[in-house]
Amino acid sequence: MAANLNTGFTAKQRADVVAGLNKVLADSYALYLKTHGYHWNVRGPNFQALHVLLEGQYTEQ
Ligand SMILES: [Fe+2]
Repeated sequence: MAANLNTGFTAKQRADVVAGLNKVLADSYALYLKTHGYHWNVRGPNFQALHVLLEGQYTEQ
């Protein structure tokens, strides 16, 4: 059973925050997946440096 907490926010404000957080979550996950994809598919003479760099980035994400 959920507690009835008074946060000081209206229902509209809470809905706006939820919508914003949903967008941040979706964008963050898309960036994580793209970074991981580049990590897997990097080619060329800079492979090792880029592979390590991208691994560090998706790990932090
Ligand atoms: Fe790897």
